Amino acid sequence: MISAEKIPNNVNLSSNKRLQRALEHWQPKYIQWWRDMGPQGFQDYHQVYVRTAISVDPEGWAHFEYVKLPEYRWGIFLADPTPDRRIGFGDFFGQPVWQEVPGEFRNQLRRLIVTQGDTEPASVEQQRLLGQRCPSLYDLRNLFQVNVEEGRHLWAMVYLLHSYFGRDGRDEAEELLERQSGNRDKPRILEAFNEPIDNWLDFFMFTMFTDRDGKSQLMSLSESSLDPLSRTTRFMLTEEAHHMFVGETGVARILERTCELMKQAGYSEDVRKIGGIDIPTIQKHLNQWFSLSLDLHGGEVSSNAASYFANGLKGRAKEDTFDDHVVRDAYYHMEFFEEGRPVTKEVLMRNAMNEVLRDWYVGDCAAGVTRWNKILERHGMSDRLRLPDRKFNRHIGMYSGFHFDPNGAPLSKEEFERRQHEWLPSKSDSEYLLSIMAEPVYEPGKFANYIAPPRRGINQLPINFEYVRTEA
Ligand SMILES: [Fe+2]
Ligand SMILES: [Fe+2]
Repeated sequence: MISAEKIPNNVNLSSNKRLQRALEHWQPKYIQWWRDMGPQGFQDYHQVYVRTAISVDPEGWAHFEYVKLPEYRWGIFLADPTPDRRIGFGDFFGQPVWQEVPGEFRNQLRRLIVTQGDTEPASVEQQRLLGQRCPSLYDLRNLFQVNVEEGRHLWAMVYLLHSYFGRDGRDEAEELLERQSGNRDKPRILEAFNEPIDNWLDFFMFTMFTDRDGKSQLMSLSESSLDPLSRTTRFMLTEEAHHMFVGETGVARILERTCELMKQAGYSEDVRKIGGIDIPTIQKHLNQWFSLSLDLHGGEVSSNAASYFANGLKGRAKEDTFDDHVVRDAYYHMEFFEEGRPVTKEVLMRNAMNEVLRDWYVGDCAAGVTRWNKILERHGMSDRLRLPDRKFNRHIGMYSGFHFDPNGAPLSKEEFERRQHEWLPSKSDSEYLLSIMAEPVYEPGKFANYIAPPRRGINQLPINFEYVRTEA
């Protein structure tokens, strides 16, 4: 069993006996969860070349070593404190930040931390079968890197629950290991985290779009008046960047390969006939994960969001780039959908904070899609990928009761159901993807037919490095 001394940390864990005991009590349950619900088939006989954070300075947070996954050193790290940090927004703007949880915001803060914490193990559960279908050892290692870091993000949230929320916090920490992605009786809190991810196109789209929602949420929590929450999430963002890199470059490499195969096939041929992933299938998966991730930002008009902002619990991404940090009587022009047509109305800005964060998110996603399209352009293709309209395929918020096509044109329920597989993955699309991923590629330097090799390896190692090795 891994002892608490082996938990790398910069929170002086050994001096806080109460916290150390609480974490020691939780740790074996976590390890059991990781064994049961983590990467299937890669627990005992494989060594994975992963990055382990052993401190927050530039050298320490990117320390690479081979480890067996259950022995990964899940650590607890807070970004360095900002001297004399002040509350950056809301009704308490300008006051010193909090080192303890104010009683009146205890429930709200616990809710925010639990909701964030719940997504972390959920994604590990969603991805647990992917190792058996991996396109290369390089990709397998990246999958596991993302998985162990999501596990560390759970540790980060559990650290906050144990440290600042007493008994309730300990109970919540237990429940984070009890809910399960896709479980009928005890599902994960947010819908996108109950969808299975059983093929690598879904995985790359998930890390591109859903991990980017993670970035949105972490950016807004890193503005929080609760300083330990701010410092924890600030450090999580450094890891999150790699997850989005995995997603963006994964799709980019599929596009690269699709273009090569299209050329080989003489353009007019169906690229599936030679084992590639056609652009319409890529677009459908983009539509799926982008729309699910839009939902994760919550309802357009939200009194919860207003109160989180007013109380200084959750800010906007890059709060310091805004002029007005109190936002008491500013308005947001929001598009409503009434009697079959769009109507713009003014909403109190504080009530529109979910939408403000969603705007930032859509812009960040759009920049990524532009980078993908450069690949198609470079290969002389006329196809382009695009983000669907934000009304498309929504299950949360004011568009959820209606149907739209990816251009945002309203459709009847019948028409949407009849045509949905023009825009969203169908059963046969999934079957096709699983068929080309049925055989995993475990030979160093080899890649599945549907994906191009990366430009460079991990940590300046060659592409054919043995990123995951089997123990003799
Ligand atoms: Fe995470
Ligand atoms: Fe992530």
